[in-house]
Amino acid sequence: MFPLRPTLWLIFTTVFALLTLLPTVDGAANSLIQVPSSSFGPNPTNVTFYLYLPSKLQANPPILVNPHWCHGDAQACFAGTQLATLADTYGYIMIFPDSPNTIDKCWDVSSNETLTHNGGGDSQGIVSMIKYTLKKYNADPTRVFSMGTSSGAMMTNVLLGSYPDVFAAGSAWAGVAFGCFAGNGYDLWSDDCATGKIIKTPKEWKAIVEAAYPGYTGFRPKMQVFHGSADTTLYPQNLKEEIKEWTAVLGLSDNPVNTLVNSPDVGWTTMIYGEKFHATNASGVTHNIQTNETVVLDWFDLKCQGRSLTTLI
Ligand SMILES: *[C@@H]1O[C@H](CO)[C@@H](O)[C@H](O)[C@H]1NC(C)=O
Ligand SMILES: *[C@@H]1O[C@H](CO)[C@@H](O)[C@H](O)[C@H]1NC(C)=O
Ligand SMILES: *[C@@H]1O[C@H](CO)[C@@H](O)[C@H](O)[C@H]1NC(C)=O
Ligand SMILES: *[C@@H]1O[C@H](CO)[C@@H](O)[C@H](O)[C@H]1NC(C)=O
Repeated sequence: MFPLRPTLWLIFTTVFALLTLLPTVDGAANSLIQVPSSSFGPNPTNVTFYLYLPSKLQANPPILVNPHWCHGDAQACFAGTQLATLADTYGYIMIFPDSPNTIDKCWDVSSNETLTHNGGGDSQGIVSMIKYTLKKYNADPTRVFSMGTSSGAMMTNVLLGSYPDVFAAGSAWAGVAFGCFAGNGYDLWSDDCATGKIIKTPKEWKAIVEAAYPGYTGFRPKMQVFHGSADTTLYPQNLKEEIKEWTAVLGLSDNPVNTLVNSPDVGWTTMIYGEKFHATNASGVTHNIQTNETVVLDWFDLKCQGRSLTTLI
C-alpha cells in the first residue's frame, strides 16, 4: 500500500507530523457537518464528506474544495488555515473531503480510476460531493475551486485534470503534476515522482492530461502552483513539471511573460505565464510551505460576491 523505504517513511512522517502540529488559528463560526454517504454518489472509494457552511451564505455561492495532506484529515485541514474563517466573511461554501485510506491518509492520485473522468477513485467521490452541494445550496457551477497542500495539492492537480468541466480554478501548494504518481493501483506512492525523476516534455504532459477525458475540448480551469525550493519530500523538480504540464494544457509558452520578485512574500518569485497560469518558487522554503489565504482568495476572486468568474477569464 505504501512502499516507502523506512528512512523516507520517517522523514515523510516527521514532515507531516509538523504540518499537523501547526498552530490552530481557527476562528470559524461554525463546525464541520458530515454528509452521509447515502445522500450523494457515486463514491466508489468511500471518501467521507464534510461541509463547512458559513452563517451568512451568499446567494448562488461559490464552492471551495480543500483536500487535506497525508496524515491529515478534514478536521485538521479545516483548522489549519483561515479559509473557513474567511468563508464567514465572504459567504462561500467549503468542502473538506476526508480520505478513506486510514494507513497514511494520502489521497489516491495514482489509480487509473482517479486519473480518469468519471472513472472512479477518490476524485470521483469528491466530484459527487460538489454536485450534491451545487444542487442542495443552489451554488454557482461556474465558481467551483480546489486548493490544497502536499497530498491536497496533488489531488487538486488530479481534480483539475480529470474534471476540467467541474472546476473554474485550482491552487496547488507543494504538489506534483497530474499523472506524475500514476501507478496502476490505488494510493500508490511514487518515489520516482517524489524525488523529481519523472521528467516529461510539455507535449507528453499535455497528452497525459488529455487522456484523462478523451475527446474533451471545452473550458480548462486556471491554475496557480507554489513550491519551496528546499522541499525534500516532493523535490522542487515537481514545480518544473507542473509548469510544463499546465502551460501546455492551457496553450501557453513555458517561458514566463512576467516575473515578480519578492511576491507575494520575501524570497518568493512568481512567474506569470498568462492569466490562467502562475507559478511561485519559494526560495529556501521546505515542504512545510505556509498557505497565504489572501493569494488564494484573490486567485479565485472569492472576495467578490455575486460576480461569475467566467467574466474574468
Ligand atoms: C464502501 O462502502 C460500501 C458500503 O458500506 C461497501 O460495500 C464497499 O465495499 C466500500 N468500498 C470500499 C472501496 O471500501
Ligand atoms: C491501468 O492502465 C494501464 C495502462 O494503460 C493498464 O495497463 C492497466 O491494465 C490499467 N489498470 C486497470 C485496473 O484498469
Ligand atoms: C500574502 O500575500 C499578500 C499579497 O497578496 C501579501 O501582501 C502578504 O504579505 C502575504 N503574506 C505573507 C505572510 O507572505
Ligand atoms: C526555483 O529557485 C531555485 C533557486 O532558489 C532554482 O534553483 C530553481 O531552478 C527555481 N525553479 C524554477 C521552476 O524556476
